[in-house]
Amino acid sequence: MAWTAWIREETRGVEVLPSLYAADFMRLGAQIESLLAAGCRVFHFDVGDGHFIPPVTIGPVILRSIAPAIHAAGGLIDCHLMVDNPGRHFQEIAESGGDTVSFHHEVVSGPEEIAELAAAARALGLAPGLAFNPSTAVADAARDAVATGLDFVLCMSIVPGYSGQPLLPGALERIAELRGLLPADVPIEVDGGVGAGNIAEVRAAGATLLVAGNAVFAAADPGAAYRALAAAASAASPTAA
Ligand code: DX5
Ligand code: ZN
Repeated sequence: MAWTAWIREETRGVEVLPSLYAADFMRLGAQIESLLAAGCRVFHFDVGDGHFIPPVTIGPVILRSIAPAIHAAGGLIDCHLMVDNPGRHFQEIAESGGDTVSFHHEVVSGPEEIAELAAAARALGLAPGLAFNPSTAVADAARDAVATGLDFVLCMSIVPGYSGQPLLPGALERIAELRGLLPADVPIEVDGGVGAGNIAEVRAAGATLLVAGNAVFAAADPGAAYRALAAAASAASPTAA
């Protein structure tokens, strides 16, 4: 099932997405199985090119290994492309089992290129999302995402590159600002520094797709950590704007 339909029709409305970048790669399969057993169905997969962000992260080779088990369980893989020239990677991401691609506002020339990338993603069966950094104006990202009809918007709450950083000051205000600028049916994903101490506030600010790397994988029991985060997020109500 396509990402958008799944998010809108089958989820509880709020999803916690474990960021596999933070996994223990010696035990990757076991950690994914335990998260699936804990009820997790959407995984976040960070592709970094060593140029748009300093580190080289993970890519299609690993995606191909994990996608069959996740898809067999009815799950999806949300691919966050922290790369220059994101469109170069869409076909390989699709063939390797990705379900979404988010690409960064900072690497595109404007709405025309965003629209072209979105069309290219959809032609491959990938749901396109627009990601943007803390240094980018929320209004600029929102305007371009709305103009191009993207499926979701990913608001970075850290400078992208590494798991385990704290949520930046001002992130909650930026999420709330974004929520006020997007149509109600366009979900907001938040990535970076989300954990037990702030997930309710992030949800209340208007995000429904909540990425958690360190908060899941640094725990002794990632499945239990996932369940606790999902419960806290689901219990939080969005604040009326
Ligand atoms: C980093 C990645 C994030 C990262 C999140 O730039 O985009 O997805 O893994 O990790 P935490 O939740 O630990 O900040
Ligand atoms: Zn990410």
